[in-house]
Amino acid sequence: MKKIIIANWKMNPQSAKEAISLFDQVIKAAARLKNLDLIFCPPFVWLGVISEKLKKIKKILPAAGRIFLGAQDIFWQSRGAFTGEISGPMLKNLDCQYVIIGHSERRWIIGETNEIVNKKFLAALNFGLIPILAVGEKERKKDFLDFLKNQLEESIKDVSKEAKFIIAYEPVWAIGTGLPDRPEDTELAVNFIKKIAGENLILYGGSVTSKNIKSFLEKAGVDGALVGGASLDAKEFAKILKIANL
Ligand code: PGA
Repeated sequence: MKKIIIANWKMNPQSAKEAISLFDQVIKAAARLKNLDLIFCPPFVWLGVISEKLKKIKKILPAAGRIFLGAQDIFWQSRGAFTGEISGPMLKNLDCQYVIIGHSERRWIIGETNEIVNKKFLAALNFGLIPILAVGEKERKKDFLDFLKNQLEESIKDVSKEAKFIIAYEPVWAIGTGLPDRPEDTELAVNFIKKIAGENLILYGGSVTSKNIKSFLEKAGVDGALVGGASLDAKEFAKILKIANL
């Protein structure tokens, strides 16, 4: 079964030099990917330099066909007077194939609603990008599956049955807290999401480290992981890749 690991760098690092250095270190560890696809999601401003680096290594790295570029967000219009926004065609021109949509930091800090997320989701598909839709409850209450159902259904409203996308199940309380979900509980949510999202791949995200990646892959029924904090530590991330690549 194919697995996927996503490196979500969020608003890091602060310079192109650091971004290139992190990329170079991770690429060394990714040279022997066999069963695993790796998707780098740097901030918009470093997409250009990372895209160039990726083009160069594609010619020499055996695992190059398994390494991809993704953006952390997208705007739904293709061009025009939308100050600060980034369009699908811009991302395509930088060789992005994926885009994270509806990350909890965008939903809860910036205020993106399911309606906005849905517009971005439809736009990503329309522009030929594969959406990585993040969903997850803010609190693990008794009715959290109802919350997930609503968030998911509204986020993928009007999406055709044939559409190919990825879902990242990320309980908000587990993100960046060092308190990951229990893989058994993730499995419950994942099985529930599968009923709504069909055959599409499902990842787990939220405080993934080299210590817990194996149990998520083995016990939670997921196809991989979306990694935030640990993807900024090249050594730690290399360990995650090694374990997931087995
Ligand atoms: P984290 O972030 O690994 O730092 O918890 C995951 C995410 O937000 O995608």
